[in-house]
Amino acid sequence: MNEPHRRLIYSSRSIDGTTLADVDSILIESRMRNGLDGITGLLLWDGRSFMQILEGSSDAVQNAFDRISEDERHSGMIVHQDGLHLGRVFGEWTMAYPSNSRDDTIPGKVAVILRNATVEMRDLFSRHLAGRLR
Ligand SMILES: Cc1cc2nc3c(=O)[nH]c(=O)nc-3n(C[C@H](O)[C@H](O)[C@H](O)COP(=O)(O)O)c2cc1C
Repeated sequence: MNEPHRRLIYSSRSIDGTTLADVDSILIESRMRNGLDGITGLLLWDGRSFMQILEGSSDAVQNAFDRISEDERHSGMIVHQDGLHLGRVFGEWTMAYPSNSRDDTIPGKVAVILRNATVEMRDLFSRHLAGRLR
């Protein structure tokens, strides 16, 4: 149960004109696919950029990341963290999206991930979690 899982965190810039409806379609597509691939995680969008956490087997995360990298709905991906960890933080979410969920445990889960994170990553997450639109 506590086998190591890969956790990859990246941010990217959404293309101009992206709306909440576009993010909803990404979520619907992602949840279906992630369920089949055993991937869990979190997606944040602040109106300008995405921040995503992908958790799963190394191969599953790689395949998802490779597909996501090719997606023209965003650009300028930066990987902030990529490594093996015991257990999953977002185990019950095929892709959590805090803005339209009532799960108030999400900030606490992000805090667990940020325990050993850089200041830059903490800032990115707090900006996204605050839901500040630009
Ligand atoms: C910001 C962002 C996050 C995405 N997250 C996922 C994801 O978690 N899982 C996933 O399967 N696809 C995700 N996608 C969609 C993929 O890029 C891709 O469209 C989808 O996996 C279908 O790929 P395919 O047409 O090659 O099968 C995301 C796309 C974007 C722009």
